[in-house]
Amino acid sequence: MKLNPNYSKEIIEALNTYLSSIQQAYMNTRGFHWNIVGSHFLMLHIKYEEIYNELNVLADEVAERIIQLGGRPDHSFSSYLKNSKVIEKTDLSSDKETVEALVDDLKILVELEREINDKAASNLDEATAALTSDSIRSHEKTIWMLAALLK
Ligand SMILES: [Fe+2]
Repeated sequence: MKLNPNYSKEIIEALNTYLSSIQQAYMNTRGFHWNIVGSHFLMLHIKYEEIYNELNVLADEVAERIIQLGGRPDHSFSSYLKNSKVIEKTDLSSDKETVEALVDDLKILVELEREINDKAASNLDEATAALTSDSIRSHEKTIWMLAALLK
């Protein structure tokens, strides 16, 4: 069954906002990977690399889904900065502040994923719904693991 054109326009816009937010979360996480210091250095340095690599793969999947829906994925730093729901974070270096910042960023991504998932599921857009439900599952697990460090 063909997707409704009004729906496609709406979901492409939501996916571009999501893409910008993933890209900002990616850059924030690279900063945490580079600047982390302290007794959890080694574990967090490695974990942050794993997370930003996953965000990089996710950005590619979201961009390619936008193309499949007939849209054009944003691909400039200026549009990412303008549209991202994740705020730019710089000069954080302690385990507590970087973990807290990353948990906040991932929670924002999960909110966007839930909104997109809901819209996609009610419009029978199974591929977009599946993409976002995989991301919700993965990000909620990462949030749980990171938040456990702060207890
Ligand atoms: Fe590195």
